[in-house]
Amino acid sequence: MDKKIKKIALLTGGGDCPGLNAVIRAITKTAILKYGYEVIGYVFGYRGLYNNDYIELTLDKVEDIYKEGGTILYSSNKDNLFDYLVEENGVKVKKDVSDVGVENLKKDGVDVLVVLGGDGTLTSARDFARKGVNVIGVPKTMDNDLSATDLTYGFISAFSVGTEFIDRLNTTAKSHHRVMCCELMGRDAGWISLYAGLAGNASVVLIPEIPFTIENIAKKVAERDAQGYPYTVIAVAEGAKYADGTKVIGKIVEDSPDPIRYSGLAAKVADDLEKAIPNHEVRSVNPGHIIRGGDIQPYDRILSIRFGVKACELIDEGLFGNMVTLKGEEMSYVSLEEVIGQAKVGKQKHVDPNGELVRAAKAMGVSFGDE
Ligand code: F6P
Repeated sequence: MDKKIKKIALLTGGGDCPGLNAVIRAITKTAILKYGYEVIGYVFGYRGLYNNDYIELTLDKVEDIYKEGGTILYSSNKDNLFDYLVEENGVKVKKDVSDVGVENLKKDGVDVLVVLGGDGTLTSARDFARKGVNVIGVPKTMDNDLSATDLTYGFISAFSVGTEFIDRLNTTAKSHHRVMCCELMGRDAGWISLYAGLAGNASVVLIPEIPFTIENIAKKVAERDAQGYPYTVIAVAEGAKYADGTKVIGKIVEDSPDPIRYSGLAAKVADDLEKAIPNHEVRSVNPGHIIRGGDIQPYDRILSIRFGVKACELIDEGLFGNMVTLKGEEMSYVSLEEVIGQAKVGKQKHVDPNGELVRAAKAMGVSFGDE
């Protein structure tokens, strides 16, 4: 046990996620009230650590952010200090500048660095741990795609907003006898679309784990027509793919550790489907980042508190180099060495195409466009 901890620093990296502010608040409050630590937060992730740009985190600063989306520490999904873009003699080059980060931590008197981030951000956290920094990781992904933890804060908030979109599309689709395709984020995992689709009564759910064909979707629309439901709402996960492997990439973000951004699949599905079912008008909507913003759901507020308080417990017990997890009913932790690169080593948590939830959906007549 290391009882000499006086000051901790937080940073948030990667895309934001509902619940980050609530975790910042939980860590700050627990650190100050229970353990008597001083707390600072580097702004814009590792870039702030490099530039030594931070704010003091006080009780006053965090009191009201218990339900606020986003992160008061701001975030960057590009700034990896182990491969950082710097200008040398007028030329931009990539360099390992992590020593600058380590020096700044020393200069600022920081005993522990708490990193809230996804795969890329936590890879750097592990690398700082390898350099001897006391690091604690707190996972961040609304996509719910980390196998090391049963649930991550943000997922419930994200799919709840997605559900509201599907709910609303159902009523307007019904009025016009239309087919409406709604694209939802989630990257290469179908959790958000599966949950929002089921909760919002979508008749078709397209997810990355189950390739689909337009013919099978058209079959479902025709089946609903015959049953007296001449409208259909389709939940489309942004990373879903056609049976021939076609996916839709919206943008390549240079310098991002994971440069592919999906976007536009629902619009393509709508175009292709309209040709297959000329008796229906097919429209698409893409709420995009809207499901990431705004207030967070009460359950995520509780989850955020649990992740934040557990992070402080790990600090108190000197359990550095670990990431907080939820396993079953219990808060727990796993070594960063073990968990890093989950997406790359096939440990990403995916929807099981033959699992209970997909079988339940199929039993309820939901089509995944696969049959
Ligand atoms: O991982 C969270 C997430 O919102 C994904 O669902 C989505 O694919 C991606 O981030 C979008 O990233 P960006 O904010 O860079 O567009």
